[in-house]
Amino acid sequence: MSEKKSFYITTPIYYPSAKLHIGHAYCTTIADAIARFKRLAGYDVFFLTGSDEHGQKIQRTAEKQNVTPIEYVDKIVAGFQELWQRLNISNDDFIRTSEERHQKVVQEFFRRIRDKGDIYKGEYTGLYCTHCESYWTELQLDENKCCPDCHRAIEKVSEEAYFFKMSKYGDKILKYIEENPKFIVPTSRRNEMIKFIKQGLEDLCVSRTSFDWGIPVPEDEKHVIYVWFDAVINYITPLFNDPERFKKFWPADIHLVGKEIVRFHSIIWPCMLMALDLPLPKQIYGHGWLIVEGDKMSKSKGNVVDPMHLIDEFGADAIRYFLLREITLGQDGGFSRDALINRINADLANDLGNLLHRSLNMIKKFQGGIVLKSVGENEIDKSFKNDAMNTVFEYKNLMENVQLSDAIKKVWTFISRANKYIDETMPWKLAKDESQKQILSNTLYNLAESLRIISILISPLMPKTGQKIFEQLNLENFEKSRLEDVLTFGKLPSDYKVNKAEQLFPRIEVEKQ
Ligand code: MSP
Repeated sequence: MSEKKSFYITTPIYYPSAKLHIGHAYCTTIADAIARFKRLAGYDVFFLTGSDEHGQKIQRTAEKQNVTPIEYVDKIVAGFQELWQRLNISNDDFIRTSEERHQKVVQEFFRRIRDKGDIYKGEYTGLYCTHCESYWTELQLDENKCCPDCHRAIEKVSEEAYFFKMSKYGDKILKYIEENPKFIVPTSRRNEMIKFIKQGLEDLCVSRTSFDWGIPVPEDEKHVIYVWFDAVINYITPLFNDPERFKKFWPADIHLVGKEIVRFHSIIWPCMLMALDLPLPKQIYGHGWLIVEGDKMSKSKGNVVDPMHLIDEFGADAIRYFLLREITLGQDGGFSRDALINRINADLANDLGNLLHRSLNMIKKFQGGIVLKSVGENEIDKSFKNDAMNTVFEYKNLMENVQLSDAIKKVWTFISRANKYIDETMPWKLAKDESQKQILSNTLYNLAESLRIISILISPLMPKTGQKIFEQLNLENFEKSRLEDVLTFGKLPSDYKVNKAEQLFPRIEVEKQ
């Protein structure tokens, strides 16, 4: 037997500075769908998310609210965890940078790099954006001399500080990126990073003395470690004290991150890993932003969409479906209520809901709810089964290439095909003719089998819906399903009774909205 394949995927760890919005849910949902697909494909998966809790901004916010930083973050992070649970996120661990297990690893890594001579003490004067916890050079500022990311005012800061010798690794990381075309995806982000490195990498200031809500520099505790140096290490923390686990999951297969933080993940983090003599992650995937009313969501712009409200109103699976289907990974995509409702009505209530309802109702009406054995096949059946199997293979290839939206579209093309198969075969006519009995049984078997296949294919995107279809088909152990269960047509048992058809997604009446 071949050894079980392993797969490690991460999301960024989120700032507890504001409530999470649908843009954060987008990033986590993508990672979850990929993790679930890999489990389905037989991989041993480790999926990590968490919270990035240190830094001056958190400390200031807590002070304003008259609470300690940890009291402040505890409350917000509990909200993250509730959101991920309600969205059915299947993370295997949740890392908080305020946890002791993380602090130990960060200090250990800081020490190792310092002992090697790649962290040294100096004086830093720079232009700092408190909001982004980022230093910028004059050249990088926007046209108003503000932060190029968030466009807020920057401050000139001067302090004694530790520096990481990133300049030493510039050529090495550039060579690595150029030799590994899949290291930074999509290509547009890769090109940006190459351009950035070619301008020359400066040493990175990795400690602060102006506040204390952070991980102390070992043996020099008036400094705290720069929040990005601290944060990226989270990806190794859960593996660090377990050599077996480390060996199995490091290097990570995908760090999924928003496009604005690709630089931290594809330059700073790899340079740190090179200094530590550790292997680099296999891929940094920079996804696009979810845009609302033409702009990236933010509290200050007042265009924040609360995912909790959407889950209350439409259910987690509908939101997950929309996010994964509507936006091509790597590009920006628009979110609107109207578009969400359209998708729910057309794709979920109509296409998928009708297929399930019609199929189960016909099995009930014409065969007393029993799925009978399929014997033989005619040309229509043959072409339908072929389409089912082609869908599975195309879906598998697309999912393996993380082309989630295209993979979903293939499944929906097959759902339409299955609805068309009903129209072509007209089971209500077959039921009236005793000589067509076997053909009717074959047709209804094929429909039930196609629903079993669909439920497994959609499980990474809509785990609850897949399960509901399975239950209505009266099948067990949905959570143990694997991709290999749908690689051949006809694994559905026969001569057993299906359950009653229940509505999967109610149609949303737009007038009422
Ligand atoms: N704490 C850092 C990440 C450290 S990782 C070692 C951070 N946190 S964040 O909360 O500001 O953002 C987390 C992720 O959410 C980023 O990848 C960011 O791109 C993503 N998104 C925030 N707003 C978004 C949208 N409107 N659309 C899509 N993703 C969005 O950065």
